[in-house]
Amino acid sequence: MMNKSKLTAMSLVIALFLVSCAKNKVSIDKTTQKVSQLMAKMTLEEKIGQLNLRGTSSRVKGALPEALKQAVRDGKIGAFLNVMNKSFVAELQKIAVEESPNGIPLLFSRDVIHGFKTIFPIPLGLAASWDVEVAESSSRVAAIEASSYGVRWTFAPMLDIARDSRWGRIAESPGEDPFLAAQLAKAYVNGFQGDRLSDPTSLIACAKHFIGYGAAIGGRDYNTATINKELLQNIYMPPFKAAIDAGAQTVMTAFNEINGIPASGDKKLLTGILRKQLGFDGFVVSDWNSITEMIPHGFAANEKHAAEIAINAGLDMEMTSASYEKHLKELINEGKITIKQLDFLVANILRVKFRMNLFENPFVPEEHTGNLYAPKHLELAKKAAIKSTVLLKNNNNMLPLNKTRTVAIIGPLANKPREQLGTWSFDGDKNHTVTPVTAFTKENRSFHFVEGLNYSRDRSSKNFKKAIAVAEKSDVVLFFGGEEAILSGEAHSRADISLPGAQEQLIKALAKTGKPIVLIIMAGRPISLSNIIHEVDAVIMAWHPGTMGGSALHDILYGDAEPGGRLPVTWVKTAGQLPLFYNHKNTGRPAKPSEFVHIDSIPIGAWQSSLGNTSHYLDAGYTPHFPFGYGLGYTKFAYSNLKMSSKKMTDKESLTVRVTVKNTGDRTGEDLVQLYVQDLVGSITRPVKELKGFQRVSLEPGAQTEVEFKISVEDLKYYNSDLTYGVEPGEFNIWVGPHSATGLKSSFRYE
Ligand code: GLC
Repeated sequence: MMNKSKLTAMSLVIALFLVSCAKNKVSIDKTTQKVSQLMAKMTLEEKIGQLNLRGTSSRVKGALPEALKQAVRDGKIGAFLNVMNKSFVAELQKIAVEESPNGIPLLFSRDVIHGFKTIFPIPLGLAASWDVEVAESSSRVAAIEASSYGVRWTFAPMLDIARDSRWGRIAESPGEDPFLAAQLAKAYVNGFQGDRLSDPTSLIACAKHFIGYGAAIGGRDYNTATINKELLQNIYMPPFKAAIDAGAQTVMTAFNEINGIPASGDKKLLTGILRKQLGFDGFVVSDWNSITEMIPHGFAANEKHAAEIAINAGLDMEMTSASYEKHLKELINEGKITIKQLDFLVANILRVKFRMNLFENPFVPEEHTGNLYAPKHLELAKKAAIKSTVLLKNNNNMLPLNKTRTVAIIGPLANKPREQLGTWSFDGDKNHTVTPVTAFTKENRSFHFVEGLNYSRDRSSKNFKKAIAVAEKSDVVLFFGGEEAILSGEAHSRADISLPGAQEQLIKALAKTGKPIVLIIMAGRPISLSNIIHEVDAVIMAWHPGTMGGSALHDILYGDAEPGGRLPVTWVKTAGQLPLFYNHKNTGRPAKPSEFVHIDSIPIGAWQSSLGNTSHYLDAGYTPHFPFGYGLGYTKFAYSNLKMSSKKMTDKESLTVRVTVKNTGDRTGEDLVQLYVQDLVGSITRPVKELKGFQRVSLEPGAQTEVEFKISVEDLKYYNSDLTYGVEPGEFNIWVGPHSATGLKSSFRYE
């Protein structure tokens, strides 16, 4: 029986709870009230104006065009893209709030993807950190810096699951795994939006590109995606759900079609899934001209038809094309679109503007400088670069380097401050970039530097001799190779993902000197290394590491920091294997060593059915070069003593999995302990394994710790072919280990 004082306390708590609910309800109603009061005053033209996201060039010089200012004055524009001149932003906003019919403030947007001025590693690199704090801090810094320019809306995070390294935009993606991508999505949204949407440093986030953009056939950007409904829900949806659950205020539609319907015109997607299933209550924006691109898609006959389709699908705001501006009034007059439909779109946009408190605070506060390149920002960018860097090979533990050794720095990415920033880094100032050469110089390292190739695609061998000469008078070669920034990102897919230009030739020539070679790659995607991996002694993947990349790499190379990255995407031997991903299906004839005969080992005249009849390539086999989740550190870890709290799980009882991890090396280091689960039998076939947890451990030499994971029925649920979300009784395998291709194994039964 509860005593009297407890009862009083409990009733007080309940009372407070009810008040807060009522208050919260009131605040939600207050916004709804404000929206409807404002809309009651708006003309049809003004309502259509709010749907208009006008693109401008960030390179506009001189004065703003009068016509543009007049359009704002007439309430014909709701938002701008790429106005990167503070006085232009202030001038346009002043016209909007003081001279337009109802003073509705403008939204200013920009692609702030992995930093604004201080550039962080590209998103695929940030994903390699598997660190939500890194993700959140990178987007918080970006928001603080960008909002000082008047930007309050970023077109990020990009959440497209990417399984094909040929695709240029894998560089911007969270990688191939929905669980990791969902963790990152939440962190990015929290970082961009901050604690309050009304804070002047808050950028409203934009979960993009909804949906299935990464499934473009052949990795060819903008291309056709064919995704069955359960794959869409189980693989492509989770990061978007996570972003929306975290409060993302906008969603951007993808350029591509999914199963014959362009995303910008798909009502099942934009209304059925986004609004009804995921409960999204912000606004949807098209991607650049993606509404009128439904014409070349062959889905709209003309711009007016495209506008009608998009509005009926539930697409609120049109980016850069003007089909709404030109045809919406006519569509309404013809009864093809109703005022009610228009009001729904406008209300979604105004609701967000009210949430941001833009009506009260439309301007950038005077004192808000953005702390561009603040030491703290640079420190976070360096930390992110260290945590994103993946050590793929380290023969004879040649890394970390001995500081007394003379190094030869060679390669086209060793001193390229602009390339190092990677794709989508428009506002990053290359003069702030710390390249490897800058870092080695700053640290007074003894080194020789010859590029050998002037840029990543350079095919000329004219400087090879100079490069070989410095290699011969050094103890070790550090080859900084990879891709210029332009070789990944939007519209920049590659069919051959090996090192461009004559980099392989130069590496082979340097290998002839007999000097040990460390290959440090700066690129926007995994690079096929099959031709040269045996020529080098160590391989580091730095992605495009951003402003502080050189400093991060210096510290990693000399052991002052440990490379913290693990692959967020499968690293193939050759593009011919793509798409290749760890969470694949088993098939009826899964590949296995006993059934595989390499092309060079097939006897001449072999009888047709004499080879293994399983799913593999005769030449490239069936395994990647490096698996999802892989990455080395500077020490060694041993896993032992895998224990399960039970061999049975029910809806009500979760499982605890424990494993002992020991640092068996001779220096302190970190490992990323990963938990994978396999559902052995399902009403649709299930992946051979799925990431369901990860934890980073840091241990002194000889120390050990017990790592614990909880698995509940929620972790096992999936969408089957009739889109029932659940889990069937049956056997499950689990693995706990350092990456997806190994680990201690156990099993349990769900009943
Ligand atoms: C681009 C991209 C999109 C970006 C938008 C605005 O085409 O697809 O990701 O946010 O246009 O720049």
